[in-house]
Amino acid sequence: MTQDVTMSLTFVVEPNAHPLSAAQRADLLVDPGFGRVFTDHMAIVRYSTDKGWHDARITARSPVTLEPAASVLHYAQEIFEGLKAYRRPQGAALFRPDANARRFRASARRLAMPELPEELFLESVRALVKADIDWIPQDEDGALYLRPFMFASEVFLGVKPASEYLYIVMASSVGRYFKGGPRAVSLWVTREYTRAAPGGTGAAKCGGNYAASLAAQADAISRGCDQVVFLDAAERRWIEELGGMNIFFVFDDGSIATPPLDGTILPGVTRDSILTLARDAGIAAREERYSIEQWQADAASGRLTEAFACGTAAVVTPIGRVQGEGIDFTINGERVGPTTQRIREALVAIQRGTAPDPHDWVEELA
Ligand code: COI
Repeated sequence: MTQDVTMSLTFVVEPNAHPLSAAQRADLLVDPGFGRVFTDHMAIVRYSTDKGWHDARITARSPVTLEPAASVLHYAQEIFEGLKAYRRPQGAALFRPDANARRFRASARRLAMPELPEELFLESVRALVKADIDWIPQDEDGALYLRPFMFASEVFLGVKPASEYLYIVMASSVGRYFKGGPRAVSLWVTREYTRAAPGGTGAAKCGGNYAASLAAQADAISRGCDQVVFLDAAERRWIEELGGMNIFFVFDDGSIATPPLDGTILPGVTRDSILTLARDAGIAAREERYSIEQWQADAASGRLTEAFACGTAAVVTPIGRVQGEGIDFTINGERVGPTTQRIREALVAIQRGTAPDPHDWVEELA
C-alpha cells in the first residue's frame, strides 16, 4: 500500500458523447430531492499493489462491471465521503474539501485500504465539478453533492485486505435532504440497536456502518419518526449520533454542546465547522457526553431550548420531537429556534459566498 499523500496524477478527460440536453437537465433540476439525479460524468482512478494509483480519468458516468467474487461484495471493504459544490457567479465553490480528503484517508486506514493521496482526492473532485458545472442547481437550497467512494475490486474470496481497488467520484444535483421544506424533524431513540462500539468502525465513513444502521432507521420510520438516535453501546445512555448526521444541543444560557469524538462517532466536517463558527461568535461550545435521561430532564425543565442535526446532506436541521420507549417530548414547540437559525445562516453564508470566509474553508473553481 502506498502512503504517499502528496502524489498527484493528471486526469484524462473523456467527455460524455451523449450528455443530457440542456432542456432535459433543466427538467431534472426543478425538484431534484436528494440522491436521485446524477450528472453526465464521473471520476475514476484504479489502484493495485503492483502499479499503485493509476488510470485517472473523467469519463461518462456508466455502470461498473464487477466479478461476483469481487471482495467488496463479500467482506464490505468500502468507504465514502460526502461534500458539496455550490454555484458561484463565475463558476463554483467547494467547502472544506481538504477535510474530506483527510477523513477519507483516515477511513481507508481503518478499513485496511490504501490511502488515497489528498491531492488526488482534491483533483478528482475539482475535475468532476468542472466537467459537470452546469448540473449545480440555481436555487438557494441546491448544490452538487459529490460522493467520492472506494471499494475492493480484487477477485478473491480469502479474508484479507484486497490488492485492487476502484476509487470513483460521482455527482448528484440535490435540494434539501429532508422532504417537505424547512421543518423540524422527529427522532426515535433506539434501545434495541447500537451503531458502533469502542474499537469498531464508528469513526470511519464506511458503508458497513450505514448498512448496520438501516434496521434501526427503518424502525424509526415505522414509528412515524424521521431519524433514529443511537446511544452508546457500552452503557446505552450516552447520545452518540443519528442515522446519518451529528447532533447538537442548545441550552438556556446560550451555550451549545455535541457528543465528543471518542472513536465511535463520525467526525463530521459540518460538526467541526459549527464548533468553530459558534466559538467565533462568542457562543460557548462544548464537546461533552450527554445522556438521554439528562436530555429528557433538561427538555422538561427548560434548560434545553433547542436541538439540531447537522451534516453535509442535512446542513443544519432543527429537531422538534423526540420519542422512544418511555420518552416523548417536544423541543421549542417543534419550530426552528434562534440559535439553530443563527448557526445555520452563518454556515450557509460562508458556503454560498455571501459572507467572508475567515478560516479559508472555501475553494473557488473558475
Ligand atoms: C452526508 O451528510 O454527506 C452523508 O454522508 C450522510 C448520508 C446519510 C447522506
